[in-house]
This record gives sequence, structure tokens and C-alpha cells, in this order.
Amino acid sequence: MKGVVLAGGLGTRLRPLTSITNKHLLPVYDQPMIFYPLQKLADAGIREVMLVTGGNSAGDFLRLLGDGSDFGFRTLNYAYQVKEGGIAEAIGLTRTFVGGDRFVVILGDNIFESSLAGTVKAFERQPGGARILLKEVDNPGDYGVAELRGDRVVSIEEKPKNPKSNYAVIGVYMYDSTVFNIINDLEPSARGELEVTDINNAYLRAATLHADILEGWWADSGCSIDGLLQAGIMAKKLRMDGSR
Ligand code: DAU
Repeated sequence: MKGVVLAGGLGTRLRPLTSITNKHLLPVYDQPMIFYPLQKLADAGIREVMLVTGGNSAGDFLRLLGDGSDFGFRTLNYAYQVKEGGIAEAIGLTRTFVGGDRFVVILGDNIFESSLAGTVKAFERQPGGARILLKEVDNPGDYGVAELRGDRVVSIEEKPKNPKSNYAVIGVYMYDSTVFNIINDLEPSARGELEVTDINNAYLRAATLHADILEGWWADSGCSIDGLLQAGIMAKKLRMDGSR
């Protein structure tokens, strides 16, 4: 199992904090934001990782993270996304790194309490396909939203005006290598991006998409200044509790 963390994008919602740096380098309590998803991969036993970033601060990630040995990684690879073409485009850049393996993608601004070890094990037991994580939220319209029938996902909509449930699709995705064929066939959305929601819906149509509910707290720390503050407060609480 390989790991990918996405840290591209413009971070416009956090300006002026992101006017001269990449949002994933901003502090969340006592660590740069990017440390949290990397640590989640490390804690799940993943040792081969690729970080995708872009913009003017790409070199800062190299200076901060080096070869990834501080996280116990065997290799930390880097890819450069030239334009903010969307999450699916960024995932597409990892094709050579992933090869024929399976992998876990974490959006670099998603910070959460639970370990990924259990859901990664469940994904390893699947014959193939994809696995996503859902979390009940008060503001589903800000996220990808899963429509559920019982505990089965029947559709996913990206930031819908009239959400069909309160279950947000959080920024942790597990894929087999067929994802790269799916990405090849994607068209840009109305906002001009290749959407991760379109990837997940392709797996849904093939009946190979599985979902778990994420336990514990979750923060989309890059969505707003308040999201960033909330993530910092949660991270501090976790540190005080002596866990990660
Ligand atoms: O946080 C979960 C949500 O993330 C999901 O519920 C949505 O379905 C998904 O589309 C995404 O929504 P956002 O609008 O919050 O995504 P955002 O543009 O903030 O990008 C999320 C991360 O992906 C961020 O850490 C930067 C990275 N990214 C984003 C884009 C657009 C890239 O690396 N490259 C990109 O081109």
C-alpha cells in the first residue's frame, strides 16, 4: 500500500495568510498543517509516499520534509502540479509512482482524530475498487455529499445546493490503480477542475465503491479561517490527551 498527500491549490479562502505561502505550511497548533496527514499515513504503516504540490512554495516542502525519514518513510517522492487543475488531476500525477499498487490519498488540509489503520485493512481485504470515508456534518453543502440507502452509498454530489444527506465525503480516498484510467476519461467540471467526486461516482457505477464512517472529530482546516482555528483547537486537545 502506498500513500499520497495533496498539497497543491491556491488556498484563496485563507488569504492573506496564503498570499506568500502554501496553506499546507501554515501552523495548526504546534505543527505545520502538512505534518498531520503525513503522520496519519505513517501511523497506518505506509512507508512509500508521494507529496503533490505546486506554486512558488514547492521548495519549502523539500526543505521542511526532506527524504521523509522523520516520519519513518522508506521514500518520500515529490510531484509538481503546474496549474490548479483539481484533485483528480493531482492524483493523476502519481501514476508512475503508484504503478500497479493500491494507495491511500489524503487531502493535505484534512485533519482528523482517528487512525486510518482499520479502514486501510478493510480496503486491503476488498478484491479491488475504492473506499471512502464519510462524516456527519452540519454544513454538507460545503463538501462532496453522499446519498445513502441504508448504509449503502447510491450517489455523490459535489457541493450540492440541496444536499441529500448530512454525510460529507471527507478527504481520504483509497483506490486501486484503475483510478488512472478513470482520470483519463474525466472532463473538467463547471469550476474548471477534474473532480474527485467524479472519480468516486465512476467506482460507484462499477459497484466497487465502499464507505466507512469516520469516528472522532474531523476538520477541513483549509476551508476557512474558522476551520483553521478549529483544527488548531482540536489538535491542541489531542496533544493534551497524550494521543495523536
Ligand atoms: O475536504 C473534503 C472536501 O475536499 C470534499 O468533501 C470535496 O468533495 C472535495 O472536492 C474537496 O473540496 P474542497 O473544495 O474543500 O477542495 P480544495 O480545493 O480545498 O482542495 C482540497 C485539497 O486538495 C487541498 O489540500 C489542496 C489539494 N488540491 C486541490 C486542488 C484544487 C491540489 O493538490 N490540487 C488542486 O488542483
